[in-house]
Amino acid sequence: MITLALSNIYRLLIIFTLVNLLRKIAQLLLYIIVWGKRSDVDFIKQSIGIFFRKKKYKSGWDTHLKNSSDFVYNNLIGASRKYDAITILGSGRLYDFPTGLECKNFICVDRDPLSIFSYPNKKTKNSSLILYDVSSLLDIWIVSLVQTNHSSIDDFLIHLKNIQIEHKLLSKNFCFKSKLTVSLNLISQIPVYWQDQVFRIIEGKFGTTHSQVNDQTESIILSLYPSCQYLIENHLKLLLNKNSNLKGIKIVIGDLSYIEGKNLNISTSDKNIFDDSSISINAKSKNEKVFLQDALFGVDIKKLLQTLNQKPRDTKQWIWKISNSNENKTSSYHRVIALACSEKAV
Ligand SMILES: C[S@@+](CC[C@H](N)C(=O)[O-])C[C@H]1O[C@@H](n2cnc3c(N)ncnc32)[C@H](O)[C@@H]1O
Repeated sequence: MITLALSNIYRLLIIFTLVNLLRKIAQLLLYIIVWGKRSDVDFIKQSIGIFFRKKKYKSGWDTHLKNSSDFVYNNLIGASRKYDAITILGSGRLYDFPTGLECKNFICVDRDPLSIFSYPNKKTKNSSLILYDVSSLLDIWIVSLVQTNHSSIDDFLIHLKNIQIEHKLLSKNFCFKSKLTVSLNLISQIPVYWQDQVFRIIEGKFGTTHSQVNDQTESIILSLYPSCQYLIENHLKLLLNKNSNLKGIKIVIGDLSYIEGKNLNISTSDKNIFDDSSISINAKSKNEKVFLQDALFGVDIKKLLQTLNQKPRDTKQWIWKISNSNENKTSSYHRVIALACSEKAV
């Protein structure tokens, strides 16, 4: 009798899971058919990449995800019950978001259509997912580049260099209103998807082979600087500007720089996190080279915060060991910063 009841429960559970899965697949197909854009492919590819890297380099990733989750938890635990909603920009799979925050509603925003499969989630029970590009510019810029005819790559790069000026006013389209907002590892990521598209468009337009594109890589990156800077600054302004729709507590977590080297010993301090003195990088052997790259295309966050009259009430930084290559033991790290800014919630 008990065995029969249990097997019926299992059967029901399997049917329920299958129906749920089919519903999500239908939702995904409908989204792709109605709204699908060429940039979807990049978001899908990146999220699959994140899934596998997270598994492969577990210990480095776990530390980062815990640091990020703890920072959000500590800064929102008091306020989350008080306000109606937390908006999470770049929510993805919520790997870097804490369990245990209670709030009436979680508004999760991500451009990756595969996010559909991650909601509802035990971290955000009452959640709605909005598939939306938080810059609201990527697809417009892509169309702008694809539609224009340039006889030479140099002309194309001039167009690319000036592209942000054409669409400056669109930033006003940012439609979310919230009193608690988290930007989850987005600031350095938004330009990554843009860069990938630009390289693909260039290859498509000029039929260049990889080696020819490689010859031009430096000038392409230089031409990308203004638009990438604009994407980062615009995101921070949308969040932190006093006139922003977003009030209350705003949390920004993101990469400041990328570091590469063999057997590195990196330590950080949480005091004056923007100063170079708050991080020390030592290679075991003096002859080893350390590669450092700005993740933010020259955007100076410290200066930007001053311009926006924002003094974070909490800051933290840590090192995220992204990967290590087995052959030559070169490892990649991200220097991550976390800021919590607040103004009186209205
Ligand atoms: C580095 S991941 C952060 C991890 C993510 N919170 C998770 O747990 O999967 C950045 C996330 O931001 C999303 N993203 C990047 N650019 C975006 C954009 N312009 N608009 C909306 N989401 C974006 C990506 O799809 C990805 O899910």
